[in-house]
Amino acid sequence: MSVRVEALLARMTWQQKLFQLQILWRRDATEQHDLARRGIGAQFWPPSAAAANALQRIAVEESELGIPLLIALDVVHGQFTIFPTPLAQAASFDPAVATADARTSAAEARANGVNWTFSPMVDVTRDARWGRVVEGFGEDVFLSSRFAQAKVEGYQRDELSRPDVVASCLKHFVAYGAAEAGRDYNTTDMSRRRLRETYLETFRVGVAAGAASVMASFNALNGTPMHANPGLLTGVLKDEWGFDGVVVGDADGVAELVDHGVAADERAAVALAIEAGVDVVMGGTPLVDADGTALLTPEEVSPARVDDAVRRILTLKERLGLFDEPYVDESRAISSTPEVHRAAARAAAERCLVLLRNETGALPVRGDARVLLAGPYARSTDHLGAWVQHFATPVAQTVADALAATMPDAALKVVEGAGFFEATDDQIAEAVHHAAGSDIVVLALGEPSTLSGEASSRADITLPAAQVRLIRAVAATGTPVAVVLGTGRPLVAEDWVEDVDALLVSWHLGVEGPAAIADALSGRVNPGGRVPMTFPRAVGQLPLHHDHESTGRPPRTGGRIKDDPNPEFAGPDNLGDYYTSKYVDLPLGPRFGFGDGLSYTTFSLADLRIDEMITVADLEAGAGIDVRVRVENTGSVAGDDVIMLFVRDELASTTQPVRRLRGFTRVGLVPGEATIVSFRLDADDLSLWTEDERRVLEPGDFAIWVDDGTSQLHARLAVTTERAA
Ligand code: BGC
Repeated sequence: MSVRVEALLARMTWQQKLFQLQILWRRDATEQHDLARRGIGAQFWPPSAAAANALQRIAVEESELGIPLLIALDVVHGQFTIFPTPLAQAASFDPAVATADARTSAAEARANGVNWTFSPMVDVTRDARWGRVVEGFGEDVFLSSRFAQAKVEGYQRDELSRPDVVASCLKHFVAYGAAEAGRDYNTTDMSRRRLRETYLETFRVGVAAGAASVMASFNALNGTPMHANPGLLTGVLKDEWGFDGVVVGDADGVAELVDHGVAADERAAVALAIEAGVDVVMGGTPLVDADGTALLTPEEVSPARVDDAVRRILTLKERLGLFDEPYVDESRAISSTPEVHRAAARAAAERCLVLLRNETGALPVRGDARVLLAGPYARSTDHLGAWVQHFATPVAQTVADALAATMPDAALKVVEGAGFFEATDDQIAEAVHHAAGSDIVVLALGEPSTLSGEASSRADITLPAAQVRLIRAVAATGTPVAVVLGTGRPLVAEDWVEDVDALLVSWHLGVEGPAAIADALSGRVNPGGRVPMTFPRAVGQLPLHHDHESTGRPPRTGGRIKDDPNPEFAGPDNLGDYYTSKYVDLPLGPRFGFGDGLSYTTFSLADLRIDEMITVADLEAGAGIDVRVRVENTGSVAGDDVIMLFVRDELASTTQPVRRLRGFTRVGLVPGEATIVSFRLDADDLSLWTEDERRVLEPGDFAIWVDDGTSQLHARLAVTTERAA
């Protein structure tokens, strides 16, 4: 307990307390200043260090209590210097990429007066229709958790009062990523077991990493909107996990309890939300109006709960050092992209590229090749991706510029070929004409940034038809085709992927995107990223993820339309492979699964070493199982391999996933070089959640394997109740 915070709290009136519990956004500076003067707790960033200081000065010098403001901004993957989108970062399988982004973002933001960011988004995402998959780290809980941790630690470092850190915010709590049908803001409903295992876990890890705040999500869960969910906001987050930071509502999320139909009016909504555990209301009607009248009386919301919320907010301000130094040094404000930040963004972008197909060794492009570059991304600068503010440093280059600079000896021809959504016959004909005389065609295709992000769910996640037309026409010339795919989500590529020789997924790579793409095309960079979110064959497969359960009827072959017109007549004999869990009109599985990714070199895995037996008691006492494997670069160029460790609980009290990721490492090796990669499995890696929310370690056999996307090595582990004699 802080003496300063308690002394302040003791002096505060009901109105002063209530107004600390709100963040509002106002475009107009006069209105911003007025709110600061009246003692609001937080505001969105007025875009400069000078404006932020001016606002802060009013709060400190002109409000009655002089409490400094939390000044917030969504710095999701960069403020000025934009890094790859979070989904792209997850594809690096290298949390250091997220750390670099968060540190750079925090330095730029805090230097300008931002002290609180609404990032990272740690929603696990398994439905590519949902536009916000671009903001998170994909479908896997373990991978997402490691990135959540890296982001939190990168934003906050060791001490929130440093001039180069910001308070982070885990969002959106919770299960927002499971929105039904992938439609943004939609309802969710799920078992407690799945909630614990999948959706709560990334938050649990982020809280353990020290996240200063958590944002409630827009969705209802099992009938209770998250802004009014005491069981989760208070019960799990604050009481069970001991989270002592701030819970903030999402934009107008509290007022929307009225639209959810659980609050009669906004006053009731605010009372419900604060009682449930929301500490800061974002948006809505001011909690205290211009003549000092509070929206709620102490009879309508518990004063003890309000005190607790105020205490949390003041404590965060104290941790940020705002009571001692509310202002930033304007002479040190960073308002564009310094070279070192650009270099960090470039290094990050290079690690996020994923090579998914390279059938004929079409890539890398030979240095002296005749290259045709076409498609909407050839001359576009739309590489920043979703959730970027208007003041972000623009992309200066196109892929055409970058390729010309990177491959000076190539004969490069650039044509439009197709726009994002439209192509004329003339454009296609021109591309076909030049393709015929080229050694390789590079098609830079994809979704523009505006098709992903908040409120940008798609019902159809294929490439726009105009671009597919271009692929088909160019592929028909017989010249090898390499597609570079810029996208904010996994796409369905079924109707063209086998027509092209190579596929390089470039996501939205940020301010240095074109340079990184050109480097990968030329071979200067060897792509080493992996798929963090499954690419389905059809939208009808969604939601889809690698760590599904087996079902009682796991399929062995793909679907087929049955010849027998009356299949139901087979009656109790419905036991053949036809009657297994699949679609009759699709081959088995996804097009590209979690962890897929190729390289310009080859690797081999060998010598998997693991102890074969351990007791429950030893695991519970903290012992672990060491897993080691040797990886070697067996090809002719340097490259990175990603080694993943999977676990399957073979026999359990409840159905378990067919595999669970419990470790991953990305290693760089030169030709002929080998290294030993090691992992350690502990009790938590082998435990499961029960429906009555207990975490248990059940004895039995576990399949353990390492997989680098190309090959696998298997072992078994027996977890026993007694030591072998
Ligand atoms: C989004 C949040 C974001 C907030 C503030 C909302 O619409 O859902 O993710 O942090 O706006 O910008």
